[in-house]
Order: sequence, then structure tokens, then C-alpha cells
Amino acid sequence: MEASQQKGTIDRRTFVKLSLAGGAGLLTAGSGALFGAESSLSTSMNSIFKLGGDLPVNRLGFGAMRLTGENIWGWPPDRANALKVLRRAVELGVNLIDTADAYGPEVSELLIAEALHPYPAGLVIATKGGLTRPGPGEWEPNGRPDYLKGCVEKSLKRLRLERIDLYQLHTVDPKVPMEESLGALKEMQAAGKIRHVGLSNVSPEKIVRARKVLPIVSVQNRYNIGDRKSEKALIYCEKEELGFMPWFPIGGGGGLKSGAALDAIAKTHSASVYQLAIAWLLQRSPVMLPIPGTSKIVHLEENVAAAKLKLTPEEWKTIDGLAG
Ligand SMILES: NC(=O)c1ccc[n+]([C@@H]2O[C@H](COP(=O)([O-])OP(=O)(O)OC[C@H]3O[C@@H](n4cnc5c(N)ncnc54)[C@H](OP(=O)(O)O)[C@@H]3O)[C@@H](O)[C@H]2O)c1
Repeated sequence: MEASQQKGTIDRRTFVKLSLAGGAGLLTAGSGALFGAESSLSTSMNSIFKLGGDLPVNRLGFGAMRLTGENIWGWPPDRANALKVLRRAVELGVNLIDTADAYGPEVSELLIAEALHPYPAGLVIATKGGLTRPGPGEWEPNGRPDYLKGCVEKSLKRLRLERIDLYQLHTVDPKVPMEESLGALKEMQAAGKIRHVGLSNVSPEKIVRARKVLPIVSVQNRYNIGDRKSEKALIYCEKEELGFMPWFPIGGGGGLKSGAALDAIAKTHSASVYQLAIAWLLQRSPVMLPIPGTSKIVHLEENVAAAKLKLTPEEWKTIDGLAG
């Protein structure tokens, strides 16, 4: 797909300028219209990104993987709490929720529907397929076309949707040519069951290959202060105006390694290092769509508040220099 077909809220010149400005590159939000006046994001530094040029989301999203049982397996010990976390996220102005059929498996999608259906206007649920769960802690790719088509149908049922706004291929199955896996998603898109398609865990070369099969609107790779292995994929996304959803944005289950420099900046802002990590990502690029995950309301509120945190260019550069 041509970049011009994927134009977002920002014209290309402004976009490139913002990308180059790095730390200084943020658009102020006009997101109040999407959600109620109570939304704390509506007055924040958070800005809107249009997935595929036509699907607006507040850039700070929520990852719903952590709502399941231990090892991303089964039901959470406190199901009522998981439902509360999801409802609170939306109340706070989050309108991009990332999930996958593999989380639980099935549990994360079922919780989302239980908590939020009928969905408020403007809520984008981004799910994924292509990774199976033989057991707790086990993840195995399956990119066979028929399997993937079945996954889409089942996610539609669990999420109680007629069309999935963003369906991401969770990973490329080394046993199946990616063109075949994506061909199946293209068919589901043509049948009206998927609006936009995204990729996950891919190199720039794979993104280029995928875009020869069908339009791709987003990429979801691991990326955070300490792990920039996907820098090239991020740069590709910036150039082509694709959304980039960093997973493990605040370091994942192992947390973030804080250090003197990070702690000092956190203290200046009366913020946590997790908030700094989110603010740093949001200021890294206008295509950055962080999806921090949590099972706790208090962490959710803290993470969402990070969208209001503005790092100075010097602070941003100091954090940028901390890559592991
Ligand atoms: N595409 C992929 O292959 C892939 C892989 C992994 C994840 N993902 C997606 O990316 C999302 C984000 O990744 P993630 O959830 O694994 O990692 P993450 O967002 O970097 O970190 C989540 C971890 O940090 C803790 N946490 C969250 N907020 C905190 C805070 N304010 N203070 C202290 N601890 C905090 C959480 O524990 P508590 O529950 O105790 O808050 C949880 O253990 C997932 O939810 C999922 O949607 C995608």
C-alpha cells in the first residue's frame, strides 16, 4: 500500500518534522470528543493516531494480556477486578485495547466482551491470531490459512463483534509462507470480518513482503527503554506512517531496571520510572502506540497519567542514552 493511502491525522511534512524532533515531537490531544469530558486523556499530552488513516485512537492504549491467570493461562484469581480494570481503562479515555486469542487462551477476549459489550463508540479492540497455547508458558505458531480463518471467526464470537477493527498476525509461522497466512486474512477482510490488518514480531523486510499481499496498518514488536532491537522496524513504521505498538513497553513481567539517571528524572517529575518509560515512548515518535499491561487499577491509573508527563528534550535524551 502506498504511504499516501495510509495518511493519518498529520500531513507528511509535519509528520517527518515531528519524527526528527524526537523528544520534542508530540501533538497535543484533541481527543475529548471521542470520550466523555471526565477522560483524563482529553487534557493530556496524548495525541490521536489514525490507524489505516481512518481509525482514530488515543496513542496510549492498554494491553489486556495481564488480566488472565498466572503464566497468561486460565482465569484470573479475581475476575471482578479484571472487569473493573477494563472498565476503568475506558473511563480514563483509553480507546485502544490490545488482546489476542492466545491470552488465557480465550480468557482475555471473553473478559473484554463481558466488561465492555455493548462497546462505546470509538473503542478499538485489536486482537491477534497465529500463536497457539499447548499449555501454560507455551506458545507455538500456527499460520496455516484455514486455522487462521477459524481464529478470526472464533474471536468475532468471543468479542461479540461483527467486524474486528484491527486483526494482527501474532507471529510469522516459519513452517508456512507468510503470503499464505496473510492471504487468509485478506480473504477475511474482503468478507467484511476484519477492518484493518497488523503484524507482530516482524522485521522491516517482513513488513515489506506483507504489504505486497495486503495493506498493513500497524506493527507490534517488543520495544522499551532497555530493549531497542526493533529500532529498524520502528523507523520503517515512522517513514511509512504505520502504527507501532511496543510490547513490554515498561519492561514486561521482569520490570524496568531503574538506575540513578532514571530515578533522578522521576524524582523531578514526582513520577515513577514506569511513567517515565511511557512518557519517553510517547515522545519518541508520533506513530508510537504504547499498550502497557496491568492487572491492577492503581497501576492503570498511574500508567494513564503518564500521558500528561512532558519530558524536556534533555531529559528525553538522557533516557534515550540508557539503552541496554
Ligand atoms: N505481540 C506479542 O508477541 C506480545 C507479547 C507480549 C505482550 N504483548 C502485548 O503487550 C502488552 C504489554 O506487555 P506486557 O503487559 O507483557 O508488559 P508491560 O506492559 O511492559 O509490563 C507489564 C508488567 O508491569 C507491571 N506493571 C504495570 N504497570 C505498572 C506500574 N505502574 N508500576 C509497577 N508495575 C507495573 C504489571 O504487573 P501488575 O499486573 O502487577 O501491574 C506487569 O507485570 C500486553 O498486555 C499484550 O497486550 C504482545
